Amino acid sequence: MNPTLLEALNWRYATKKFDPTKIIPAEELTTLLESIRLTPSSYGLQPVKILVVENPKTREEIKTMAWNQQQVVDASHLLILCHYFNPGHEEVEQYLELMSNARNKPLASLEGFKQHLMKSLDTMGERNKEQWTSKQTYIVLGQLMLSCAFMGIDATPMEGFDKEVLNQYLQLEQRGLRASLLCPIGYRHEEDPYLSLAKVRKNHEALFEVI
Ligand SMILES: Cc1cc2nc3c(=O)[nH]c(=O)nc-3n(C[C@H](O)[C@H](O)[C@H](O)COP(=O)(O)O)c2cc1C
Repeated sequence: MNPTLLEALNWRYATKKFDPTKIIPAEELTTLLESIRLTPSSYGLQPVKILVVENPKTREEIKTMAWNQQQVVDASHLLILCHYFNPGHEEVEQYLELMSNARNKPLASLEGFKQHLMKSLDTMGERNKEQWTSKQTYIVLGQLMLSCAFMGIDATPMEGFDKEVLNQYLQLEQRGLRASLLCPIGYRHEEDPYLSLAKVRKNHEALFEVI
């Protein structure tokens, strides 16, 4: 039986020790990736790319760029959430074509939206644009974490890695990409000392304010 929303969210935790013998079944992984594909993004542009790292040698090397965090190699799979740091007119054209096909609408009818989107990207400036696209990876992360919890898959969100070194290692810049987050996914080791730790969260009054 599926867990309730709050059961799933209380069950999940940032896993520090994965069981390296447990692999996510292919069908489950497909469902998880589909849930990521359905993540919303600003304007719907999806300026992100998710790398699914299975190769053990590659993961060993990435581990050294991630403060030797063992989860990178022990988890069933390693996801790297990347953003396009400077999307422009070409990406907008591709997106509008996708929309035109998905909704069976002539491209000409989307011209207003296209011009608005292009102008918005043109006036953003490269720095702001990257900030904006990298934020989209955090929305992916949120959806990924929730999907994992719901499916009984463990996950560790990770900002602790050397982004520049990883970008270079995977030759991401050449493709207009930069790494934003790592997320090993798999199954917790029963001896993970973090497994039994109580959740630390602000209480309701501290976190919410009704105005
Ligand atoms: C964006 C982000 C980056 C994080 N980076 C790391 C990391 O590099 N290594 C790690 O072990 N945990 C990392 N964490 C896990 C947090 O420490 C953890 O989610 C937080 O303490 C709350 O605990 P819980 O997730 O177990 O409920 C990160 C969490 C988030 C959301």
